Amino acid sequence: MAQLWGGRFTKQEDAEVNAFNASINFDKRMYREDIEGSIAHATMLGKCGIIPSEDSDKIVCELKKILAELNEGSLVIGDEYEDIHSFVEATLISRIGDAGKKVHTGRSRNDQVALDMKLYTRNVLDDTDRLIKELQIVLLDIIKNNTETYMPGFTHLQKAQPTTLAHYFSAYFDMFTRDRSRIADIRVRLNKCPLGSGALAGTTYPLDRVFVAKELGFDGPTTNSMDSVSDRDYLIETLSAFSTIMMHLSRFSEELILWNSNEYRFVEMDDAFSTGSSIMPQKKNPDIAELVRGKTGRVYGALMSILTTMKGIPLAYNKDMQEDKEMAFDAFDTTRNCLHLFTGMLATISFNKERMAESAMKGFTNATDAADYLVTKGVPFRDAHGIVGRLVLLCIDKGCSIEDLSLDELKALAPQFDEDVYSAVSLEVCVNRRLTIGAPGKEAMDKQIAEYEKMI
Ligand code: ARG
Repeated sequence: MAQLWGGRFTKQEDAEVNAFNASINFDKRMYREDIEGSIAHATMLGKCGIIPSEDSDKIVCELKKILAELNEGSLVIGDEYEDIHSFVEATLISRIGDAGKKVHTGRSRNDQVALDMKLYTRNVLDDTDRLIKELQIVLLDIIKNNTETYMPGFTHLQKAQPTTLAHYFSAYFDMFTRDRSRIADIRVRLNKCPLGSGALAGTTYPLDRVFVAKELGFDGPTTNSMDSVSDRDYLIETLSAFSTIMMHLSRFSEELILWNSNEYRFVEMDDAFSTGSSIMPQKKNPDIAELVRGKTGRVYGALMSILTTMKGIPLAYNKDMQEDKEMAFDAFDTTRNCLHLFTGMLATISFNKERMAESAMKGFTNATDAADYLVTKGVPFRDAHGIVGRLVLLCIDKGCSIEDLSLDELKALAPQFDEDVYSAVSLEVCVNRRLTIGAPGKEAMDKQIAEYEKMI
């Protein structure tokens, strides 16, 4: 194995130990960040006169070439290196000799890997924010087109009160807004540069850490050098935020799986986002939504894994920390993939509006409104609640809805009932009278939509 640290060792290396120790197989995906960091470091070394500026120029120029070759695939990262840092440094030295041997002056792999992982995570956060925004754009389109698409709202999975599809989906819009704000918070805390912390105790070279931080788009350098090389809080925060995103996607998926079932038939998923059965010819299954729901567990697993890995690690760097990568990368990929596919699924779903309205009319979703009607006629709410309860019993007995009862039948239960009760308990009126902030009434919803438009 091509290593950076042979000098002190006398015994032959052991292949199994090397394989166990190596991280090249998974950290090679950070080659861009690693090279970007080395370019900033080498530029600073030259600028500060720590290495000759000709050497610094040579290093930067060759690192750029290496990056371009890796991007286009003409240079391939081999498994014989311990990690991505060793690969880049060895490649550089093989091409420019002694100048390349100076790139690691005043640097350790400990602050290098801390930097690479932060840069990588920062890119992932930005990309995830973009993906959530794309999902919100699709959601907003559905919301705008469905402020008068009536449907039942549920509690305990029992029909509760009528609402609209716009209102229902705006609940998810709000969840994703919180997800984005969590990402923004994490990004602010993350955005301090650890490079220049050395192995743990800084360095004797007069490094310009402020310059490097600026070059790499950070708000400034981190402070304590021991904390800098062993801080993985930002990863825990990111995986926690991603677990919450997945939880939201999972709830939304569950909703759509139910609505897509034969019993609900509120939605139909596009063929492209459904799969068939190998045995039952009639089946069209919502596999994509189910997979999103299922993959949520993987992301939670990554969060638990890193929390457990970090627990009890003494200062400063310990090799345990290499274990932050595989699970985090998997969670990064999984979350972004799910967001992307979910957005496509949502964009192509069709809504069975008649069926939704029909369902909202049945199941006494307007019972609260019938009670509220009696309140407007001077009946105290608790009494109104009792009257409408008896009314519902009567309807169940007759197999009808509240609005199907005759005025005489209604008056028999409460003389305060009048002709205007029928419009008061109609679906449109029930929904559109709900005008408190955050309620489904069209006027309230339109105000909310205007806010969403500004946000997006
Ligand atoms: N592959 C290592 C990691 O991911 C890089 C840092 C190695 N540092 C060390 N002192 N061995 O953490």
